[in-house]
Amino acid sequence: MESLGMSVSVDSAGNLRGLHQGLHQDAPRLLIGSHLDTVPCAGAFDGVLGVVLSIAVVESLNGRRLPFAIEIVGFSEEEGVRFGVPFIGSRALIGTLDAALLEKKDAHGRTVAQAIRDFGLDPSRMSEAILKEQVLGYLEFHIEQGPVLDELGLPLGVVEAIVGQTQARVSFRGRANHAGTTPMHLRHDAVGAIAEWILAVESEARATPGLVATVGQMETFPGASNVIAGEARASLDVRHASDAQRTAGVDRILSAAKDIAERRGLKFECSVTEDQQTVACDPNLVLAVEKAVAHAGFPLHRMTSGAGHDAMILAQKVRVAMLFLRSPSGISHHPDERVLPDDVAAAVNTGLRFLEELEKLHA
Ligand code: GLV
Ligand code: MN
Ligand code: MN
Repeated sequence: MESLGMSVSVDSAGNLRGLHQGLHQDAPRLLIGSHLDTVPCAGAFDGVLGVVLSIAVVESLNGRRLPFAIEIVGFSEEEGVRFGVPFIGSRALIGTLDAALLEKKDAHGRTVAQAIRDFGLDPSRMSEAILKEQVLGYLEFHIEQGPVLDELGLPLGVVEAIVGQTQARVSFRGRANHAGTTPMHLRHDAVGAIAEWILAVESEARATPGLVATVGQMETFPGASNVIAGEARASLDVRHASDAQRTAGVDRILSAAKDIAERRGLKFECSVTEDQQTVACDPNLVLAVEKAVAHAGFPLHRMTSGAGHDAMILAQKVRVAMLFLRSPSGISHHPDERVLPDDVAAAVNTGLRFLEELEKLHA
């Protein structure tokens, strides 16, 4: 970004930000980008492709100034892996990376604030990251991470909504005891209980069209082969395009957990770490993206995003839109995640056309 003459900085939440000035000092700005972090054993494209693609779009301008400035944002922490809370970088831009979130701890007991200090930044200056300028909107480029575009044989998709998500941590607490001496009918086995519940989560999601529910992480304590587990903890991730269906699904899943715990003589606890509603993209920006796709010569396809994105957080303050690139075989959050070079070229071309659409609107 520096070599393109952009002013580059890292804000107090670790977001990488680069500004391509507009024609005038006080021109409004358009945000484009995606996130820089990943999940464990990730592929190479979820997040960072959108940042690099944004830089390629600005590079293609060849230094041309527009009636608006372009700020590229590489969000620092979108996945929520380390602290159990996603979208930390984008929350900083809208002023909701607050004291409670700064105190959240990772698995080693380090807080978000300490992690920010370890990185050489100052969490007490978080308000400096907040968007202050007039913002025209945010366009995020991202791989689809699902099979829809690949099955349709289309390179690009225009996102009209991002589905809501609930994330929670659950714990079943029973009683640890000796694996050899404790008869089966006298056990309060936390692993038995959580195993039964995980299958209930799967059945609940299978029984509700459009509902997806995932237990992706589990720990057992004390965690020895000859000890009946006294406690088992797990993550829960539930998503549906309808907020009402999602929250009803979560209620049924949690009530199944309480029943299982009661029947087996265990204690169940749940703490909801994220309750994010479905977010609609801005209709005018969606239209501008569609025009850009058409001018670039590609077929149109509108779709919802099942994955969460920083755009859904920014939507609380600014108009948002997203352009998806086909994910070959629909694989993501996996090292086999891929993208086709021609699709990347199509997205860069569409990004340029999108800037032209906005230029017409703001000339
Ligand atoms: C982000 O990748 C998410 O949807 O969890
Ligand atoms: Mn991801
Ligand atoms: Mn992502």
